[in-house]
Amino acid sequence: MVNSCQPRLRIGVLGSGKGSNLKAIAQAACSHDARYEVAIVLSDVASAGILTLAKEYNIKATFISPGPYKTKLSEEAEQQFIDALQEANVDLVVLAGFMRIMKEKLLAAFPEKIINIHPSLLPMFPGLEAWKQALDAKVRETGCTVHYVDHGIDTGKILGQQRVPVFPNDTDETLHARIHEVEHQLYPKIIQEIAQKS
Ligand code: GRF
Repeated sequence: MVNSCQPRLRIGVLGSGKGSNLKAIAQAACSHDARYEVAIVLSDVASAGILTLAKEYNIKATFISPGPYKTKLSEEAEQQFIDALQEANVDLVVLAGFMRIMKEKLLAAFPEKIINIHPSLLPMFPGLEAWKQALDAKVRETGCTVHYVDHGIDTGKILGQQRVPVFPNDTDETLHARIHEVEHQLYPKIIQEIAQKS
C-alpha cells in the first residue's frame, strides 16, 4: 500500500502534436499508486491538441513561441521553456512528440532528466517517420523506445522498449497506429519506474 503523503515526482510534458501519449500518462497518473504527477504541459505550437488535452485534465498548459527556426528553439524561447519548467518545480522533462532538437542550455538545465519516446526499436531507425523506415527496410518487427535525451538524435541511454510485429499488408497508417498503442503502455510504465527510484 502506497502512503498517499509520499511526494510525487513532478513531470513537465513537452509536445507539438495531438498528445495521445500525454493522455496515457495523465490517465495513469490518476491511479492510486501513481508516484508521479503532470505539473505542466508546454508546446511550441499554439493550436496543438496536447494543450487542449492538458486543460481537459486540469493541467497547466502553456504555448511558448519557438522563434524563427524550423527545427530548433531560439535562445529566448529555450530560456522561456527552462523558466516555465523550473517555476513548475519539474523533476523530470518528458518529451511526447516535441518536434524540436534539444540544445545545450536545456540539456544542462535538466541533466539526465529529459526523456523521449521514439517509434522504433533504437538504435534502429532514428530520426523522422521511423515506422516508414521500418516498412522500407522490410523488417518483421519494430516497436518503440523510451530513452534519455542527449546531444544526438535519438541516441541517449535506453530505458525501455516494447516490440510490435510488422505485417505484410501494413501501411504507414496501420503500423504507426500499432506502435502508438504500445507507446501508451510503455511511457507511463517507465515514468512510474523512474518515480519509484527517485
Ligand atoms: C509519437 O509517435 C512518438 O513516438 C513521437 O511523437 C509521437 C507523439 O504522438 N516521438 P502524440 O502527440 O503523443 O499522439
